[in-house]
Amino acid sequence: MIFVESTNQEKVQIKDKKFELYISEDEIQKSIQTVAKRINTDYKGEEIIFVGVLNGAFMFAADLIKDIDLECEISFVKVTSYKGTSSTGKVHELIGLTTDIKDKHVVILEDIVDSGLTLSKLYSMIDHNAPKSVQVATLLYKPDAFKGKYPPKYVGIEIPNKFIVGYGLDYMEVGRNTREIYKIIE
Ligand code: HPA
Ligand code: MG
Repeated sequence: MIFVESTNQEKVQIKDKKFELYISEDEIQKSIQTVAKRINTDYKGEEIIFVGVLNGAFMFAADLIKDIDLECEISFVKVTSYKGTSSTGKVHELIGLTTDIKDKHVVILEDIVDSGLTLSKLYSMIDHNAPKSVQVATLLYKPDAFKGKYPPKYVGIEIPNKFIVGYGLDYMEVGRNTREIYKIIE
């Protein structure tokens, strides 16, 4: 990843695409604190297992759980459906669930929910293991792209259907390593 304007880091180039600054570090962190507060309230007195979805959600998961004041566990699964800037339509499970979630409250942690395809696959994967409840917390949500049945309960920031990178999100596996989020310049 190359910062095109080195003075203010407002534009970045990743492989063949250019991106501009879209969501600041401050806005990301505030939205995460808001989501954490809601989870702390809703699950007061309960135990949760967070299930982070790799690769994208690693940063969101790391920041969110620092603001959780409940007894919680965290585990990760790895699935893929995206190649480049579009979904392949097929979800592949690369690392399955290794934690026992039977009779426990599960909160799935996603970096972004767009078509909802990955999410439906995850729901069935998790539901199969008889949890007490399942909800989804996502940093970003593209409502215009969503085709699933159940929209995510906890949403950090709603965005239009434009391709973004940064803060865990990639373009061709690159660009995850920023504190801000960048939007594609078309
Ligand atoms: N950027 C990166 N990865 C994604 C996106 C996006 O906009 N939507 C779904 N996966
Ligand atoms: Mg990706």
